[in-house]
Amino acid sequence: MTINFDKVIERRNTNCSKYDGMAASFGRNDLLPLWIADMDFPVPEAVTEAIKRRAEHPIYGYNIFPQGYYEAFCAWEKKRHNWDVDPAWVWHTPGVLTALSTAILTFTKEGDGVLIQPPVYFPFRSTIEALGRKVIDNQLRYEDGKFTMDFEDLAQKAAQAKLFVFCSPHNPSGRVWTKEELMRVHDICRKNELLVFSDEIHSDIVYKQHSHTVFAQLSDWALHHSIVAMAPSKTFNLAGLEMSHITIANDELRKQFQYYERFGLHVANGNSFGLGAAQAAYEHGEDWYQALLSYLKENLDYLDGALKARVPQVKLVYPEATYIPILDMQALGMEPEALKHFVWDEVGAALNAGTTFGPGGERFMRINVATQRKNLELFIEKLARALEARK
Ligand SMILES: Cc1ncc(COP(=O)(O)O)c(C=O)c1O
Repeated sequence: MTINFDKVIERRNTNCSKYDGMAASFGRNDLLPLWIADMDFPVPEAVTEAIKRRAEHPIYGYNIFPQGYYEAFCAWEKKRHNWDVDPAWVWHTPGVLTALSTAILTFTKEGDGVLIQPPVYFPFRSTIEALGRKVIDNQLRYEDGKFTMDFEDLAQKAAQAKLFVFCSPHNPSGRVWTKEELMRVHDICRKNELLVFSDEIHSDIVYKQHSHTVFAQLSDWALHHSIVAMAPSKTFNLAGLEMSHITIANDELRKQFQYYERFGLHVANGNSFGLGAAQAAYEHGEDWYQALLSYLKENLDYLDGALKARVPQVKLVYPEATYIPILDMQALGMEPEALKHFVWDEVGAALNAGTTFGPGGERFMRINVATQRKNLELFIEKLARALEARK
């Protein structure tokens, strides 16, 4: 099957954040949009077909989640990560962040410490703070163009926390944690009886030579002390359908989580279109998904090569996973605020500012490569021109 990811699909005037919501985040709407983590690519045909089929039935009432739906997700996990998931462990939430809020509300009290590893996906911090819990930072290290964990600091901080919000693979560092790194995290959490919310939403977008291990696969302890959050949204570009899967093998923890979600938050009803779309993606999306991975990898190689050739002061922190890597812009010698405005106003590109991801993100900008290659070519042109103009 050939899928043409180079084909441009006009997204303006579809109420999409990336284009129609740009002004709200960047103060203008004419920037090259390489920010928020969705893709400029059409979904697999089977997904569109499933939505059309559902739309033909004109009643959109409350839903159930049929067994086949959970089985499709479990079969995908078996194939992707050789993870044996019992469908009975899996539960739906309208998003990974809803699951995060539910976990925080269910398993911690106001004032409790919640551990994160910045620079990290920024809503982790804001969610913890909005719910009146205390953020505990275990900042990643950045050395020789690569992010690693500070395990000594993690061991200390783990003792003060009630919940660890782990990002694996990690956004925005692009790291796929190795088995050894994961085991060190595991041992620290186990020693401190620390519950782990493992956000694995990016676990399908992993590039060759790297292999993702699900936190719950590490041991029986990990299986019974973790909440694993995954979703078809990053993999198949379905964020607007509000579907995610939460796997909790521990019966007691799952019951508590479900109770809060169903009776406290009332967000478990599901979306009539998302249901069939997610199932179709897992059942029929393999070819599209493989083609996507190849296209993303070529985009990364293009960006990396073009930066080295044209703008060597800016380095791609080459990701092991995700389509939203970061650019190391330290060599430009700009303060974080100045860097942000340079990229937005002088380059003319909407990238996420590294400062948003918390301590350690200051000299970086995050770029979304899930777009037509010509947009990356345009970005390189704009960046080279803006730097030239400053000379
Ligand atoms: C690490 C991570 N978790 C969660 C989300 C958001 O997930 P959802 O839209 O399912 O709440 C994102 C989106 O970019 C993400 O990168």
